Amino acid sequence: MTNNNPIGVFDSGIGGTSIWSAIHELLPNEKTIYLADSKNAPYGQKTKEEIVALSKKNTDFLIAKNCKLIVVACNTATTNAISELRANYDIPFIGIEPAIKPAANNSKTQVIGILATKGTLNSELFNKTAEMFHDTKIIEQVGHGLVQLIEDGNLNSPEMTQLLESYLKPMIDANIDYLVLGCSHYPYLIPQIKKILPEHIQIIDSGEAVARQTKNILREKVGFSDREKSEPVFYVNSNPAVLKSILNNKYDVIQKEF
Ligand code: DGL
Repeated sequence: MTNNNPIGVFDSGIGGTSIWSAIHELLPNEKTIYLADSKNAPYGQKTKEEIVALSKKNTDFLIAKNCKLIVVACNTATTNAISELRANYDIPFIGIEPAIKPAANNSKTQVIGILATKGTLNSELFNKTAEMFHDTKIIEQVGHGLVQLIEDGNLNSPEMTQLLESYLKPMIDANIDYLVLGCSHYPYLIPQIKKILPEHIQIIDSGEAVARQTKNILREKVGFSDREKSEPVFYVNSNPAVLKSILNNKYDVIQKEF
């Protein structure tokens, strides 16, 4: 089955590019369209209703570009809105959720840490999943302020280090051996996080799992592209400079109202 329509990927901002790069690496022949709703970031403090409305708006934009599948590259949007999206649109959606399962199953201390947005940690979907691992102690921490600093291009600021230390030290003291990054912005913080965590604590995010799942759905339901190679397209609705720089200035970014 061949299908040359693009894969759409959206996030509240630039963080979902961590998922997009895993998809682009695994499926280089697929055309991808990335939508950064930076104007409305962060989603993590918004109500479920607001997150659903923004997720629908992003979906409408990508469907108008003929996307064959949509990757919700945002834990907050997935955990709050994916069931509404699936109920309202006739197109496959792939979401991203905090990787509790591999962390809980491999933890020797039976204590794991999760850093995510308030919207994700308060969601029904997250809490249902967390309940399935009741033998593991899950230390939940809202990453207040982290997304905003990343969106503002302040990845390596002293303020970032201070915030990360205050969120991670209690987890270290509680003897976690896995830290789950439950927000697609946070993989960009791994170098700073590694400076704070002792070496034996493993960090996991869900980027590669989402890319593998995307490939499976293309194989089973949607169809692969038969192009040789395809240049991705990036849209953003605020200043494009930070998105460009997180992409190492390798791609053009289109600034557009949406
Ligand atoms: N990148 C998003 C996530 O994975 C949302 C961050 C935000 O906008 O608060 O949760």
